[in-house]
Amino acid sequence: IAPPLVDPFGRAITYLRVSVTDRCDFRCVYCMSEAMTFLPKTEVLSLEEIDRIASAFVRRGTRKLRLTGGEPLVRRGILELVRSLGRHLDTGRLDELTLTTNGSQLARFAADLHAAGVRRVNVSLDTLDPDKFAAITRWGRLPQVIDGIAAASAAGLHVKLNMVALAGVNDGEIDAMLAFAARGGHDLTLIETMPLGEIDGDRVDQYLPLSRVRADLERRWTLHDLPDATGGPARYVRIGETGQRLGFITPLTHNFCESCNRVRLTATGQLYMCLGQDDVADLRAVIRTPGNGDDDDALDLALNEAITRKPKGHDFVIDRRSATPAVRRHMSVTGG
Ligand code: GTP
Ligand code: 5AD
Ligand code: SF4
Repeated sequence: IAPPLVDPFGRAITYLRVSVTDRCDFRCVYCMSEAMTFLPKTEVLSLEEIDRIASAFVRRGTRKLRLTGGEPLVRRGILELVRSLGRHLDTGRLDELTLTTNGSQLARFAADLHAAGVRRVNVSLDTLDPDKFAAITRWGRLPQVIDGIAAASAAGLHVKLNMVALAGVNDGEIDAMLAFAARGGHDLTLIETMPLGEIDGDRVDQYLPLSRVRADLERRWTLHDLPDATGGPARYVRIGETGQRLGFITPLTHNFCESCNRVRLTATGQLYMCLGQDDVADLRAVIRTPGNGDDDDALDLALNEAITRKPKGHDFVIDRRSATPAVRRHMSVTGG
């Protein structure tokens, strides 16, 4: 039996994020450029190839699988993949199979996802204002996402809302989002915008340190720190007055790399050991090499080798003076 994956800093890899497609029906300004050229089909892993690599990770100690994109629910056959990966829940090898989605297709998929073993989804929602929503996503329709969230809840899926905090755009809406989340019984997580892709002046100006948001909330509410609940990067508080949970994802103001437990597989089978670095291991080349088709020995060796290269952490900075972003690829390549 191949041993669990542990990196050189002693961090066990228990969380795999899998981008199942680079495509998306939105073009959020902090995630993609307006004109995107998407990958040709031959470059993209088949559903069977994704299953094979994800299952190898499960054999090596991964307890949590998250499907991302682009938008995971626009990948053709996504339900087959979810159902197939769900077998690891049944055997007890996997604690959680989940997705991060923009919510646009959730109304259509929620019930089937629940039936396949998904219990929780994270939905990106930065604003409750339809015009702002259309501006951030470049053409998304807010009601479609609100309906998707309602359908997910009705199907028994727990929903966590992801709100990228953008100064001058949605920083006035945090209370409204908290109220919306409380009404629906959803958790809310605020996220600092990360410098991936093209960083223009707008992106720099929109960066909002969450330390400031937290200080502001603390003037009005009682925040109780909670222990990590999801194995993700968020630090959670409970708001004493409302009882609801609020998460902060703070790659810039409070680095959480020390407790990193995750790696990312892209739609083309590239394994990123860190969101904030460029180093990859080409797992597609490994599984597509003739002779490596029958067993996972070569894949296991490639995983061992890749994990020895996991870096200590990212070095994100958002700064007008640094002309280049920390990472040139768009966020959509790894789905966060
Ligand atoms: P939970 O399981 O609910 O904790 O989800 P999660 O936070 O792990 O996943 P989600 O897809 O909702 O991601 C929320 C935000 O966290 C996104 O902006 C991700 O880019 C960011 N994120 C997740 N993992 C990392 C990480 O290792 N480093 C950095 N810098 N950001 C991360
Ligand atoms: N910085 C921070 N979060 C981002 N997301 C997408 N791009 C960025 C960025 N540049 C968020 C999305 C989604 C999650 C996977 O990542 O809102 O919820
Ligand atoms: Fe699509 Fe999500 Fe990126 Fe927005 S953040 S463009 S919804 S993948």
